[in-house]
Amino acid sequence: MKSTRATLKMTVAALAVMTAGAQAADVEVLHWWTSGGEAAALNVLKQDLEGQSIGWQDMPVAGGGGEQAMTVLRARVTSGNAPTAVQMLGFDITDWADQGALADLNSVAEQEGWDAVVPDALKAFSKHDGKWVAAAVNVHSTNWVWANKSVLEANGIEVPQTWEDFTAALAKLKEAGITPIAHGGQPWQDATVFDAVAMSTGGPDFYKKAFIDLDPETLGSETMVEAFKRMDVIRANVDENFSGRDWNLATAMVINGEAGFQMMGDWAKGEFLNADKTPGEDFLCFRFPGTQAQVTFNADQFAMFDQGGEVSAEQAALAKAILSPSFQSAFNVVKGSVPARTDVSDEAFDACGKQGMKDLAAAASSGNLFGSMAHGHSAPASVKNAMYDVITAHFNGEYDAETAAAELATAVELAQ
Ligand code: GAL
Repeated sequence: MKSTRATLKMTVAALAVMTAGAQAADVEVLHWWTSGGEAAALNVLKQDLEGQSIGWQDMPVAGGGGEQAMTVLRARVTSGNAPTAVQMLGFDITDWADQGALADLNSVAEQEGWDAVVPDALKAFSKHDGKWVAAAVNVHSTNWVWANKSVLEANGIEVPQTWEDFTAALAKLKEAGITPIAHGGQPWQDATVFDAVAMSTGGPDFYKKAFIDLDPETLGSETMVEAFKRMDVIRANVDENFSGRDWNLATAMVINGEAGFQMMGDWAKGEFLNADKTPGEDFLCFRFPGTQAQVTFNADQFAMFDQGGEVSAEQAALAKAILSPSFQSAFNVVKGSVPARTDVSDEAFDACGKQGMKDLAAAASSGNLFGSMAHGHSAPASVKNAMYDVITAHFNGEYDAETAAAELATAVELAQ
C-alpha cells in the first residue's frame, strides 16, 4: 500500500515536471482565424510547429478584421498576461511597439536574412526603430470581387471592367431575382467595400490623400461624395438580411449561387477552396472595376510579446517558421493570400493566387500599392474606427452622401 502511494506520488511529480516542461515549450497564439478557410490555413502553421515539437495553445477570438481580438489583447496585457504571439495588422503593430511591448526579433531576422526578402511595404510595420518586432505571414488585398461563374454565365454577364459595367451587371441579376451582392453589414466589411469603391471613384492619388495623408479637403471633397453615392448603389443591391452577417456566410451565398458577387479581400478565396471550388471553373476573381492597376493591401503579421528578457526559443522558432519560404507557399495557397517574401515561386498557386502575386509586384513597382484603410494599414486604429463609424452610419441610411463626406472629414480630424 505504502509503495503504491509512493509510486503514485512519484508519478504525479513526474507528470507535473512533464507538464511544466510542455508548457514552457508552448506558444499561445491569439488570432481571429475562425472561419472554415481560415482554420484550414491556421492548421498549416500548427502542424509546422508540431513538427518541431512546439505545442500550440490556441486563443481564437472570432470576428473578421480582428477588432474583437484587439480588445481581448488589450485586456490581457492590462492584466499582465500577454499571449506569446498575436496576429496583428499594420498600425496596431506600430502602436504596441511604441509602448515597448514587443520582443526584439533581430537575431532571428539576421540569421534568416529577412531584410533582403521582405518588401518595404511590410517592413514599414514589421520593423520599429530598426528593430524587427513582427513576422509577416502573408499579404492580402482588399480590392477583389468574387463571383459565381455559372450565375454570371446564366445571366449573360462578362467580367465587369468599369463601374458602369458593374452596375449593369447588378441590374441584370436583380432582374433575374438573384441577390446581386452578398454582403455582411458589419463596420469592417462596409469599410472593406469602401476601400475599393473609393479607389475606383477617385483613383490612387485621391485614395492616398484621403486615407493615408488624412487630408481634410480630400476627405470632405466632391469625389468623396461621389464615392458615398456609389456606396448607395451597393446598398441597393444587397439582400434584406445583410445586417450583422459574418463575411464567410456572405461568401457562402456566392458559393451556393444565391448571390452573384462579393467584394471582399482574398481571404474569401480560402472559403471557396474549403468548399472544394476551383477558380476559373466554379468562381471568378477579379479586381474591383476601375482598380485593376492598384492593390490595397493588408498583411497579417505575428508580433511576439516581450515576456521579459530575450525573445524565447519558442517565439524565435515561430517567427522563423512563419517566414520560411516553404511555409509561406504552403500557407498562402490555402489562405488565399500571397507570400510576404519576394522570392517565393508562384508554382503551387492557383490562377487567383498567381494573379495576386503578379498584381502585387506590379503595383509595388509602379507606385500603386497602398495600405488598406479598412484593415489598419493606412492610419492608426483611432482614425480607422472613426472612419468605420461614418461609413457604416451612411451605409445604414443615417447620412446622405454629402453629410457622410463632411462627417468623415470632421471625424478624422477629431480622432487625431
Ligand atoms: C483580415 C485578415 C485576414 C482575414 C480577415 C477576415 O483582417 O487580415 O487574414 O482573417 O481579416 O477575418
